[in-house]
Amino acid sequence: MVGKTALIVVLCVLGTSLAAEVGAGIVEQFKAHLAEHNIQIPEREFAWRTRIFADNLRRIDELNAAHPNTQFGTNKFSHLSFNEFIAKYTSGYTPSLANYTGPVHVWDVDANKPSAKDDVQVDWRARGKVTGVKDQGQLGSCTAFGVNGAIEAINAIKRNHLVSLSEQQVVDCVNDYNFQNEFGYAHSTGLVEENAYKYHASKGDCRIPGGNRVKTDGALVLSKNTEDGIENVLRTYGPMSVAIHVNDAFMYYKGGILTDGNCNSNWHAVTVVGLGRDNNEDYWIIKNSWSANWGEHGYIRLRRKQNTCDIEHEPVSAYIK
Ligand SMILES: *[C@@H]1O[C@H](CO)[C@@H](O)[C@H](O)[C@H]1NC(C)=O
Repeated sequence: MVGKTALIVVLCVLGTSLAAEVGAGIVEQFKAHLAEHNIQIPEREFAWRTRIFADNLRRIDELNAAHPNTQFGTNKFSHLSFNEFIAKYTSGYTPSLANYTGPVHVWDVDANKPSAKDDVQVDWRARGKVTGVKDQGQLGSCTAFGVNGAIEAINAIKRNHLVSLSEQQVVDCVNDYNFQNEFGYAHSTGLVEENAYKYHASKGDCRIPGGNRVKTDGALVLSKNTEDGIENVLRTYGPMSVAIHVNDAFMYYKGGILTDGNCNSNWHAVTVVGLGRDNNEDYWIIKNSWSANWGEHGYIRLRRKQNTCDIEHEPVSAYIK
């Protein structure tokens, strides 16, 4: 009995000191946030996560003040610290094609320069070659999504048939989620349709169902990894998988063109599906895998022509004859 009373007293003191520390309004806002996003947290983490939430709100204000043309706000990640976010939603691998053993088609960047006459805008979504935005959940499987996004698009462009491909197959059947293994696998084994092998955000046994498989003829790489090269492939061939370094701006991004080039954290794999120019700012249109309720309906526009977030690191696409 004494113990129980003491516990209640301690909890009350904690509650008041938390409100005094972060502000009662923040505590209420955090509760509403958890309810809105249907986020369950253990009771013992409440005070700690309220402080994280308060830190995130401060950082959101800072970013909005520093970047008037980009919008930042709370979302389903706002109860997480940046380190947790990076661990759960990006890749632990440095993207590489070093050990890729399949066929390679080298795209000659110098022979295919973008020209001033080209349209300002390229958007493969508008041409019906991009599947809906997916959600990787809490698994560092972004490369499966970044790679499948490109394979789906090139398959749709070359074979005129848009099909969503299985990331779960990649997660279960490919060792190390990396460009080299995934592009190799898509060539050697092929990918089944999303519906035939549904995603559940954890690694399981590799059990490939029967049915159609999409195979590629290899990987398409650039003779020089440059943004001009990515642009030219986008204009005349189709989307590409790229790896980008993410920073905390990604965690809060809601819309606009992200110009923050201070991306120095873990790698994240995504699919570039278009490009454009707005308010004198050139941008890439990038498909992400954090669901359609992140960013601009699941997409981000990232500043172009300054190698923002090291987008030139390893652009690669599917090669289909
Ligand atoms: C490529 O293979 C070599 C030899 O097995 C290995 O040491 C290296 O780490 C691999 N590189 C990548 C990027 O996987």
